[in-house]
Amino acid sequence: MSPDMTRSVRRVTLTQFLIQRQHAGKINADLRLLIETVARACKAISTRVNKGALADGHGSAGTENVQGEVQKKLDVLSNEILLEANEWGGNLAALASEEMELPRPIPTQFPKGEYLLLFDPLDGSSNIDVNISVGTIFSALRCPKAASGELCEANEAAFLQAGRRQVAAGFAVYGPTTVLVLTVGDGAHGFTLDRESYTFVLTHPDIRIPEDTAEFAINMSNQRRWEAPVKRYIDECLAGKDGPRGKDFNMRWVASMVADVFRVLSRGGIFMYPRDAKYKDGRLRLMYEANPMSFIVEQAGGAATDGATRILDLQPRGLHQRVAVILGSKNEVDRVTGYHQ
Ligand code: F6P
Repeated sequence: MSPDMTRSVRRVTLTQFLIQRQHAGKINADLRLLIETVARACKAISTRVNKGALADGHGSAGTENVQGEVQKKLDVLSNEILLEANEWGGNLAALASEEMELPRPIPTQFPKGEYLLLFDPLDGSSNIDVNISVGTIFSALRCPKAASGELCEANEAAFLQAGRRQVAAGFAVYGPTTVLVLTVGDGAHGFTLDRESYTFVLTHPDIRIPEDTAEFAINMSNQRRWEAPVKRYIDECLAGKDGPRGKDFNMRWVASMVADVFRVLSRGGIFMYPRDAKYKDGRLRLMYEANPMSFIVEQAGGAATDGATRILDLQPRGLHQRVAVILGSKNEVDRVTGYHQ
């Protein structure tokens, strides 16, 4: 093989991809460090998830998180891995996790930076013990500067910024392969973990979600509690060729948002966790799930709303706020949003 041919098949690693973005002025060195550090933590989490029962990773940790949900051992461990990896780099002002009630300031012995990092350390954790894909979701914001130009106090208020102000977002799926999907605002790109070189390699550049789809994802067991617009939409899908849509639809529900959204990114589809009579504000978390996923989906040409409003335009009221989520193929999301109006 000639040297030129070798070059043409060489894969781009996450580090190379980020350095290219840095040289192009899209991200600075601190944001690159943030993303690389989160990716490194995801590799460590992937290894632990992969070991499963061999590493005593299954079962409950015997504690509850701020939402009153029982924490799994791997929830707690993944949270610790992400905190330890990120707190000393000098690029963060504070961290917030779905598993912690309050933001975690940077310990005083370490320098502080301008970024805020939010994460859901192990999304879909009810699937851990049954060997179904789980994942990590993250979002990065800039810490707003105080009037004096000093770095802001990194309290809860600093985090409460609309999703459109995210500077980066991503998620890892720990499935048959570990895949990291990332956006820094110029498209959505996927990287597969090569377990031999322990490197994330660009395998899904410039992901595009088809605008039309015949596949929906929703937890059908909540059907009796849905609002009328969602009922109407799903009824029409179920009626298939015989109904107003004139085509058959397929249904998928993994119950791990990371896996369901990765499928939508890969081949299109609509993912919904609407508000209902039980979850009056919706079930998913705005800051840890809906905002980062909506940023990625929009960057891939899809859409994301809560039924009425673009998710990225919602002004957060609390760090652990829940929200209704309808995202994926643009024409289907527009249709459901239209039904709400
Ligand atoms: O928020 C956690 C989560 O596990 C998501 O990843 C997933 O989409 C959803 O909850 C599943 O909810 P349910 O168990 O109600 O189907």
